[in-house]
Amino acid sequence: MCGIIGISSNKSVSSSIINSLKKLEYRGYDSAGIATLSQGFINEVKSEGRVENLENNFDLKNLSGNIGIGHVRWATHGVPNSVNAHPHSSENVSVVHNGIIENSTLLKKYLLSKGHKFKSQTDTEVIVHLITENLKTSELKDAITKTLKQLHGSFALGIIFKDMPDLIIGARRGSPLAVGYGPSENYLGSDSYALKSMTNKITYLDDGEFCFVKKDEVHFFNEEGTKINKKVLELSSDQQNYDKGDYKHFMAKEIEEQPQTLKTGIKEYLDNMNNDINIYNFPWKIDEIKSVMLIGCGTAYHSCLMAKYWFEELTTLDVNIDIASEFRYRKNRFKNDTLYIFVSQSGETADTYAALDLCNKNKMKTCAVVNVIESSIARDSNFVLPIHCGPEIGVASTKAFLGQILVLYILSLKLSSLRNEIDNKDYKEKIKDLKNLPNLIEQTLLIDNDVQAIASTFNEAKGSMFLGRGFSYPIALEGALKLKELSYVHAEGYPAGEMKHGPLALIEEGMPVVVLAPRDNYYKKTISNMQEVVARGAKVLLITNKSKDEIISENIWESIEVETTNDDLLPFLLTIPLQKLAYYSALKKGYDIDKPRNLAKSVTVE
Ligand code: F6R
Repeated sequence: MCGIIGISSNKSVSSSIINSLKKLEYRGYDSAGIATLSQGFINEVKSEGRVENLENNFDLKNLSGNIGIGHVRWATHGVPNSVNAHPHSSENVSVVHNGIIENSTLLKKYLLSKGHKFKSQTDTEVIVHLITENLKTSELKDAITKTLKQLHGSFALGIIFKDMPDLIIGARRGSPLAVGYGPSENYLGSDSYALKSMTNKITYLDDGEFCFVKKDEVHFFNEEGTKINKKVLELSSDQQNYDKGDYKHFMAKEIEEQPQTLKTGIKEYLDNMNNDINIYNFPWKIDEIKSVMLIGCGTAYHSCLMAKYWFEELTTLDVNIDIASEFRYRKNRFKNDTLYIFVSQSGETADTYAALDLCNKNKMKTCAVVNVIESSIARDSNFVLPIHCGPEIGVASTKAFLGQILVLYILSLKLSSLRNEIDNKDYKEKIKDLKNLPNLIEQTLLIDNDVQAIASTFNEAKGSMFLGRGFSYPIALEGALKLKELSYVHAEGYPAGEMKHGPLALIEEGMPVVVLAPRDNYYKKTISNMQEVVARGAKVLLITNKSKDEIISENIWESIEVETTNDDLLPFLLTIPLQKLAYYSALKKGYDIDKPRNLAKSVTVE
C-alpha cells in the first residue's frame, strides 16, 4: 500500500513525479503529495483524494526543483486528509513512507520531550523528527543508520534534505523499494511499474538496506551502514499492457484478456508435441513431497482453496491451505516433506511475504505462484511458477485469478502424473481439454447482455448470497468478494450444503442468490439446496454449463449457461459471469471500478 516516487535530476522534476504518482495510484488513493527542493527550501504540496485533486488544487507546473519525492497514500495511522497526507516535512527534512511504524507512540513521546512539534496524526511524522534529532549528534549516514535501527515495523522510505540539493535517501524494511537509473537522473520507486516509463534498469533493495540516490550516482548500504554492491536488472518492456486501450476500465480490459492469459500460461507449461506438462528445474525429487500447503490472501486465497479441490481429486497428497495473516502467527508444525506454495499476484503482499519468510527461516521447501516475477515473494522463494498474465492494474483481481488457478491446476495434474496417480489416457485427455479452454473462455465472455440485464437487482438488494458445492464453492467465494469490493453490496459466499446450518435465516423475499450448479457430480445436490432458498422467496440466478439436458428446476429467476468442458475446468468458465456481474453492478452505480473505496492493489502492510 502507498506508492513512493523520488527523482534526482538536472531538470525540473514535478511533472515526472505527477506522472509516476498517477501510475502508482493503484497502491493507494486516499491522498497525494509532493515535496521538491529549490533555492534551499522544501516546497510541499498535498491534497486529500486522488492525484487529480492535487493537480487541480495547486499550480504544479510552477513547482520548481530538480529533486523531489511524491506519495500516494492508503491510510493506516490518521484519517485520510491533507494534513496526514505525505510528504511529512520539517524545515530541514521531508519524508514519504510506505508501511507502519509500530513503536511510533513511544518515539513520539521521546521526541516531544526533546521539544519537537507534531502536525499530523501519522506514524510517519516521527521519522522526520527522529532524523532531525539524530542529525544533531551524528553525520548523515550514521544518523540514518541510527534512525532506521530505532524504527520498529515495516517501511519503505524516501527522504530529502534542505541542505543536500541532489540527494534522496531510500530505505527498505518489509515494504518493497527499487532504484531506477536514467540519463542524468536517477529514481526511487515503490515498484518498477512507477519507474517503467522512465527506465528499464532497476535495482531492488533488500530488507535492511538503504541507498543514496543522486542524479549521477547511486550508493547502497547494509543496515550497519557499510557500502555494498547491488545488481542492476534489465526489465522487459511491456508498456502496452499499462494502457486501457479502448476499454472504459482496466477491469473490463483485464476480464477480456483472460483467453490470452490462459493461452500464455498454456504455452509456457504445456509441451504441445508430446501432450505433456513441462515444469522445468523443479528443485525437488517427487517422493520428497508428501503434502502441500497453499497460502495466500483474498482472491489469491480463493485460488489456494480451488487448488485444494484439484490436488485432492488428482493426487493422494495431503493438502492444507491457509490465509497468510493467520498462518504467520499460528503455531505451525513445519514439515520437511511439505511443499509450501505462496500465491500472490503482486508478490509483495506483506502477510504472504511474512508467511514465506517464516517458512524460509525454518528451511522449508518454498514455491511462489506470482504474476510479478521481480517481486519480493518471487525473489525469496526456492522455486517460482510465474502466471504470466501481464500487469493487472484494476484493484479487483480478475485475470490473475484465472492465471493462478491455471498454474495450480497444471501443477496438480503434473504431480498426479509423476506420482502415477492418473491413468495416462486421462492425463492426455485432460491436457487436450486444457488446450481448448481459452476458446471456451472467449465464447463465455460473450454473455454481457445477459449479465447487464440482471446487475441492478444485486445493487438494489440489502444483501446477496453466492452458493456452490465442490469445485464451485471457491468460485462462489470469489464471486461474492468481487461483488462486495466493487459494488459495496453485502455478499456472502457459502457452500450450498451449509445454508441450513444457519445462513438460511438470512433469506427473505426477493433476496438475490447466485447458485453455481454446473452439471458435475454435485449438480443434483446443489439443485436441491437451491430449492431450499427458492422456497424461502430468494430470487435465484442459476449459473450452469450448457447441456443437452434441460435445467431440472422450477421457479428460478434467471439462468446463465457457460460453455461446457470436463468437470475440472468448469470453475474457470463459472468465474466469467461473476466477474461481469460485479463489473456491471459497479458500473450501474457509477462507482470507481478500478479503484474501489478503502482498497489498494498491493497490500504491503499487515
Ligand atoms: C481482490 C483482490 C485481493 C488480492 C489480495 C492478495 O480482488 O485483488 O483480495 O487478491 O490482496 O493480493 P496478491 O495476490 O497481490 O497477494
